[in-house]
Amino acid sequence: MRKNIKTVILFAVFGFFVISCKNDTKNTEKTTDEKIAKAQSDEDFRPNFHFTPEKNWMNDPNGMFYLDGTYHLYFQYYPDDNVWGPMHWGHATSKDMITWEEQEIALYPDEKGYIFSGSAVVDKNNTSGFGEDGKTPVVAMFTYHDPVGAENKEEDYQSQAIAYSLDEGMTWTKYKGNPVIPNPGIIDFRDPKVTWDDIHKQWLMALATREKTLFYTSRNLKEWKKVSEFGSGTGAHDGVWECPDFFPMRVEGTNETKWVLIQSLNPGGYNGGSGTQYFVGNFDGKTFTPEENMKTLQEKHKFWIDFGRDNYAGVTWSNIPEKDDRKLFMGWMSNWLYAEEVPTKTWRSAMTIARELKLVKKNDTYLVTSSPVEELKKYRSSDIKKDNLQVDWNRVLVDSSEIDLAKAEIKFKINNLKETTYNFRLSNSVGEEFIVSYNHSKKQFNVNRAHAGQTDFSDKFSDKDSTAPRISDSEDMEVVLIIDKTSIEMFFDNGTTVMTEIFFPNQPWTEFSLSSVNETFTVSGIEAYELKFK
Ligand code: FRU
Repeated sequence: MRKNIKTVILFAVFGFFVISCKNDTKNTEKTTDEKIAKAQSDEDFRPNFHFTPEKNWMNDPNGMFYLDGTYHLYFQYYPDDNVWGPMHWGHATSKDMITWEEQEIALYPDEKGYIFSGSAVVDKNNTSGFGEDGKTPVVAMFTYHDPVGAENKEEDYQSQAIAYSLDEGMTWTKYKGNPVIPNPGIIDFRDPKVTWDDIHKQWLMALATREKTLFYTSRNLKEWKKVSEFGSGTGAHDGVWECPDFFPMRVEGTNETKWVLIQSLNPGGYNGGSGTQYFVGNFDGKTFTPEENMKTLQEKHKFWIDFGRDNYAGVTWSNIPEKDDRKLFMGWMSNWLYAEEVPTKTWRSAMTIARELKLVKKNDTYLVTSSPVEELKKYRSSDIKKDNLQVDWNRVLVDSSEIDLAKAEIKFKINNLKETTYNFRLSNSVGEEFIVSYNHSKKQFNVNRAHAGQTDFSDKFSDKDSTAPRISDSEDMEVVLIIDKTSIEMFFDNGTTVMTEIFFPNQPWTEFSLSSVNETFTVSGIEAYELKFK
């Protein structure tokens, strides 16, 4: 059925393409730019390997859990339009977090309201009592958003509710006793993220309010007790806190465990609009205490999961088997500044690539790093490998005749960084370019997408460069780039600085090149792969 729909869409799009080209040739007044823009269809912008809904609007990832070989991803979904509307939970499944299959809608809005963001856990011991005939319940917790209350400017229009599934997440029953946490008179009160806290043997839930994270605990997922709150006066506060996640992590190479709080906020992200910060500290079963130096270091280290403009509301999968022991994360690859205006009509927004988070300690500072999940390696096909390449002023590293730059992974290392600016550039045959610069004197990255294709759908999309600090102080810089048709995910220095950015080039990228200002430099360990899907 999905295939048929796809075929119909493809024909429709092709028809539109032919008609619009015809019109263009007649209309000689049009500028080259306009002609190029007309030649674009929605499918030209649909990523090759990042999850998108077949149709219409998507935002945050929700309810991510793993069970019996399947990764589940639910998402904020409005099936009737290409902009935000009455929220449902859409659903997709995957065997490896890379190739996704969209499923039936999991949760529909009802008389209590829209189904806002939330999470899901596998209740192995049937603490909720929802299990029947030996079937393990999966319990989802979400926010009911009452649109009438919101419209009437009441305070209590958001409350927390649960639903359960007895068929491994395919169909859901809403709990009759909802809401399980009525609104206590707080305007922004949403996005419950539940975790099994194996250290203190309790269900633990982080909930976002305007400027704080609230922590709740439970024995049975139905009755919840607020145990503490965190956040006033700490971290970024130029927006509303949303979509938290809270879990313990082992510090790489040690037996030390710390607790990590991920906390999205909108606006007020590092580059404006939506962004996701994090805090590292201790948790005694009730109260989260960030590291002593976290506050003082905030200015210097800037604790953001991703500094780019397009990774928001990301959270981690629950129920990853102990022997795997990874913290697996995925975010929404857009920004509320322009998400509803991006130039696709039939579908809107993609998710980031699934990522593995790690906790590392460097000079008394705890950092959360990200890298693409290793499952992506299975998709590597044709490759280019080079070592010790000399770049005089500009050099093409990857050409699209060798590797399709609309599905590519590129890795390299720049040795002995000099006090100059390095540029990494994607360009195409119609003169469009996407430029990432790294200024080693300032230890700062800059991303310019003002000439990277279509930008005029929103004046907030490319009005300024986005920036990121380089966190690592190594003299060599490692770079991993994951490039799809309309996105790039940049992992610098083992994922200590990460930037995710979307773009809408009118023609595919044909070259990836490196240059620097007045310097010759050496690039080593170059590996470029075309990623192959189906
Ligand atoms: C974050 C968010 C959540 C909310 C959802 C509504 O992007 O605003 O706080 O639950 O989107 O779709």
